[in-house]
Formats: sequence, structure tokens, C-alpha cells
Amino acid sequence: MTPTHQMLSGASDEELLQRMVATHPERFGPSYWAFFDASVGPLLPPRPVILDLGCGPGLFLRDIAERCASATLYGYDVTPAMIDYAHQLKWPGANPTLTLHDVAGLPLPHATGAVHLVGMSSVLHVLDEPLPALAEIRRVLAPGGLFLLHDWIRQPLPVYLAWRRDHLGEPECSPRGFRLFAVHNKYTSEDWQWLLAQAGFAICDRTQLRASHQVFVASPR
Ligand SMILES: C[S@@+](CC[C@H](N)C(=O)[O-])C[C@H]1O[C@@H](n2cnc3c(N)ncnc32)[C@H](O)[C@@H]1O
Repeated sequence: MTPTHQMLSGASDEELLQRMVATHPERFGPSYWAFFDASVGPLLPPRPVILDLGCGPGLFLRDIAERCASATLYGYDVTPAMIDYAHQLKWPGANPTLTLHDVAGLPLPHATGAVHLVGMSSVLHVLDEPLPALAEIRRVLAPGGLFLLHDWIRQPLPVYLAWRRDHLGEPECSPRGFRLFAVHNKYTSEDWQWLLAQAGFAICDRTQLRASHQVFVASPR
């Protein structure tokens, strides 16, 4: 785990892993996949190459494998416990390539224009500098390729703290809630749109399925 990520999450690798696994069905429920099936799936070629950056426990890639058995899948994460967990999942088709990799500091190990879909869920807000990572995503995407960004958007402080109390069982106004407010509420939806435009992406579609997150489908301009 990078020092930045450790500092921001304030949780051990094991705690973060367990939280990602436990909340996966709620974060990637029927409404998420209905959006995916309408706005992403139909735009992919029959045998797509798909990357998940900051793939965590690999459950998003596993869900993709169930929808698209002919896809070639790659998952990258900086935390060994996440990659270990993903390795022991039951994969419906061919096993994905799961690799320890820091997407903030290193180029993606893919040729220019060789990838059809890059997913990134609740990761980009952690990076100190999002633009180099976005440039790298743009580089590897094929013409017409898609970047599926799913990340936190800014909420009012009382709403965010109440969500932590009600969903995570934290005490009212916990120090952790105040600390993470700055992390999870870094970007507004307009900030994400501006960042994507700065990085040379056009937004094809977007949706908001929860108060805390927005989903963008973007393609290199
Ligand atoms: C909040 S979790 C989200 C995991 C997964 N995308 C999901 O939605 O279930 C953030 C993940 O990003 C990973 N991560 C953070 N910084 C990273 C970096 N620089 N390179 C690769 N992965 C990173 C963490 O290890 C963690 O697994």
C-alpha cells in the first residue's frame, strides 16, 4: 500500500478488504448493472480487453466475467491483500491477470490503443495527481474505447457524517468521519467533468445511483 493510500484510508489493508467485500453487492447492485448493460456493454467489441485500476478484491472484474465470458481481464492494485483475495475467487471463464501495480506512479503495461474498457471505482480521488493517471488511461484506450469512472462526489458535511453513522455504525461526529470528509468529498460532479475534459475525454453518459457517488462513461476525444 502506498503511504498516501494508507494515510487516507485510515484502515488496515485487512479492514479495507473486508469492507470492500461486504459492501460490493450494495455498490454494484441491479441499478449499476442496468446502467452498464444500457450504456457500456453495447459499445464493447465481441472480445474486449478490460482493465480495472485499483481493482480491490476483484469482485467488479468477476461480475464483468459473468456478463462477458469472451473478455480478457486485467486487474491492478497496489495492496497485496486485495490481489491475493482476487486470485482465490472462482472465475467463470479464463482467469484474469491480477497484478500488484501502482497506477499513480507507473505506466500501464499495455500497448497504446490496445484496451476497450478501463474501469476505476473509488480510486481516482485517492491519487494526489489525477491527470497523469488519466493520460495513461487515454493512451491505452482504443479509438472508441471507454473509461468507466465511478467515484465519490462532494456532499454536505452533516449528510456525509449522518451516512457514516447510519451505514457504518460510527459514533455521531466521529474524528474519523471528519478526517475522511476531506478525502471522500474532494471533488464535485462538476470537478470530475472538468478533469475528464482536461484529460481529453468526452463524456458519453453519466448517472448517479447513490447520493455519494457518480458514474461517468467517457471516451477519448
Ligand atoms: C476504496 S478501494 C476500491 C476497490 C474496488 N475498486 C472496489 O470498488 O471495490 C480503493 C482501492 O484502490 C487501491 N489503490 C489505491 N491507490 C492505488 C494506486 N496508486 N495504484 C493502484 N491501486 C491503488 C487500494 O489498494 C484499494 O484496493
